[in-house]
Amino acid sequence: MHAEYGGVVPELASRDHIRRVPSLVTELLADCGRGLDDLGAVAYTQGPGLAGALLVGAAFAGGLSFALDLPCVGVHHLEGHLLSPMLGERAPDFPFLALLVSGGHTQLLEAGAPGRYRLLGDTLDDAAGEAFDKTAQLLGLGYPGGPAISALALRGNPARFTLPRPMLHSPGLDLSFSGLKTAVALLVKRESMDDQARADLAAGVELAIAEVLTAKAVAALRATGLPRLVVAGGVGANRRLREHLSAAAEKLGVPVFYPDLALCTDNGAMIAFAGALRLAEATRGAFQVRPRWDLASLSEAVDYFGAA
Ligand code: KG4
Ligand code: ZN
Repeated sequence: MHAEYGGVVPELASRDHIRRVPSLVTELLADCGRGLDDLGAVAYTQGPGLAGALLVGAAFAGGLSFALDLPCVGVHHLEGHLLSPMLGERAPDFPFLALLVSGGHTQLLEAGAPGRYRLLGDTLDDAAGEAFDKTAQLLGLGYPGGPAISALALRGNPARFTLPRPMLHSPGLDLSFSGLKTAVALLVKRESMDDQARADLAAGVELAIAEVLTAKAVAALRATGLPRLVVAGGVGANRRLREHLSAAAEKLGVPVFYPDLALCTDNGAMIAFAGALRLAEATRGAFQVRPRWDLASLSEAVDYFGAA
């Protein structure tokens, strides 16, 4: 539905959520061999995100909670991503450096304890995911672009086109991807993009993003001395990025934790998990959305986890 537009159209997304959420819950319970009676609580994504789509999920969760008389808890979407590696077999301990790379966010965070996050670096403009999606759109690959770009990149030569590595050598931990996006747009206009050129460009973009993210993650590990790295968010599924991060972290002697591929991109399991940790905040039948919501602000909230 969104591929035609090269991105998510908010109004179409929220209307589609309304159509799909009720049957999705029914199907999911059937697949798990469970019924509504088995539920102990309802967790939903409270934000950040598109207000319309958030409202559909939140209202559905609030209604379910009211009807079943269950606790209902709103979750920060990025906290869901950040905790998703803990659903794997090899769960990281706290504290860790988190590289959060999703469609809308590219951040480096210090995670001191559950609920305690400090922002160390952020993108000044576009997210890395947007650079993937924009490149895919320019190459007519549809949306989401990341998986399509990495598939195309497999047979490309990343050295053919010279692409910028924005802020690679800047002193801080902030990032920027709009220059890369512009460079790709100019290239696509200028060159005749045959099949091999498209693959080469995909490989070049993927490499540029992997190098910049890896350099900043390394800088953040050095600056903070944090003992482990956790990678989360849709872009964290990218194979080349994983190779670069793992190689760099190994040199530093720092273990890296990735969520299972299925838990990298948006999913309900990570929201359920974060919600389970935040049950103390639950209400019944009430819901709220926060389309703009800073993850670090969770640390200022009441200390539900008894963390130091
Ligand atoms: O975390 P996510 O599923 O949704 C958001 O919260 O935004 O991330 C979606 C982003 C999209 O930009 C998508 O193109 C990107 O993750 N993505 C990838 C890959 N799989 C998904 N980017 C690069 N390589 C991938 N394999
Ligand atoms: Zn996400």
